[in-house]
Amino acid sequence: MKTILIGANGQLGTDIRATWPAAGLVTFTSADLDVTDRARVFETVAAHAPDLVLNTSAFHNVDVCETEAERACAVNAIGPLHLADACAEHGATLMHLSTDYVFSGAAGRAYSESDPPDPVNVYGATKAAGEVIIRQRLERHYIVRGSGLFGVAGAAGKGGNFVETMLRLAREGKPITVVDDQVLSPTFTADLAAKLLEIARSGLFGTYHVSGCGSCSWYEFARAIFEDCDLTPELSPTTTAAFGAKARRPAYSVLSNDALARAGIPPMRPWREALRDYLARKGHLARVAGT
Ligand SMILES: NC(=O)c1ccc[n+]([C@@H]2O[C@H](COP(=O)([O-])OP(=O)(O)OC[C@H]3O[C@@H](n4cnc5c(N)ncnc54)[C@H](OP(=O)(O)O)[C@@H]3O)[C@@H](O)[C@H]2O)c1
Repeated sequence: MKTILIGANGQLGTDIRATWPAAGLVTFTSADLDVTDRARVFETVAAHAPDLVLNTSAFHNVDVCETEAERACAVNAIGPLHLADACAEHGATLMHLSTDYVFSGAAGRAYSESDPPDPVNVYGATKAAGEVIIRQRLERHYIVRGSGLFGVAGAAGKGGNFVETMLRLAREGKPITVVDDQVLSPTFTADLAAKLLEIARSGLFGTYHVSGCGSCSWYEFARAIFEDCDLTPELSPTTTAAFGAKARRPAYSVLSNDALARAGIPPMRPWREALRDYLARKGHLARVAGT
């Protein structure tokens, strides 16, 4: 399966490079290929004639998207339009990464792939638009929604990830407050990368939710990180209202991975088990154990 990987140096892109067979994988950073450049997208797809285009690119700094909505539209919606059209012209399949933030969280229960998106911020709206455009332009697509990604490389677009931010704050010895009224399913990008390969090999097109099994609030996520690393910073829960971030965020964006089950693909492992694996790979557990 000849695959063009876009966003190759990102958090997920790095794990895709580590997980997918190297033969047939052609990788692009944003410097090599800007998805907002329609002509370059068409040239690239024509030149490599891939079976699959795997798009991990995004502008996903959720608060910055509120003030840079035009850029968010360009990367998260217009980029996917160009990719879908280029794939259609050259007979390729598109696998596109999306997010739990296409949902408002108002349902108060886990979201299934068939639930209609109802985003509450610019990031979610532009990602939802990208999804709609792909579905409308290209039959041969997989849209895969993840949630609260953490990976060894750290998110390029956010300068790290939640786990590393928590560990840095603990090292700085400052009191830490984390919201306890936003619930998600943290997702290890190494696990997500492996599932993407299984989905791509299934040939079963459509929309998939792929997130760590189980759920927690961001506060509970932070508590788990400190517990596993044997750290005892001054950690307290807060509310979304008191935290006062620029962008609204879904209160409950847990994803039910129904399409994976329908495709006969084994479920993701529990997020807590994946977190321990991540901490071990980063050497955080080893430091605690003194090895
Ligand atoms: N991070 C999360 O918590 C989260 C949660 C749910 C879903 N997702 C989705 O999962 C996917 C991967 O996220 P991630 O955490 O791996 O993000 P990431 O580390 O920020 O990687 C995204 C990559 O996209 C590239 N990129 C940005 N603008 C581009 C453009 N115009 N053209 C081409 N490439 C561009 C970036 O390249 P440069 O660094 O070179 O600019 C970066 O390497 C995204 O689609 C995101 O929406 C993420």
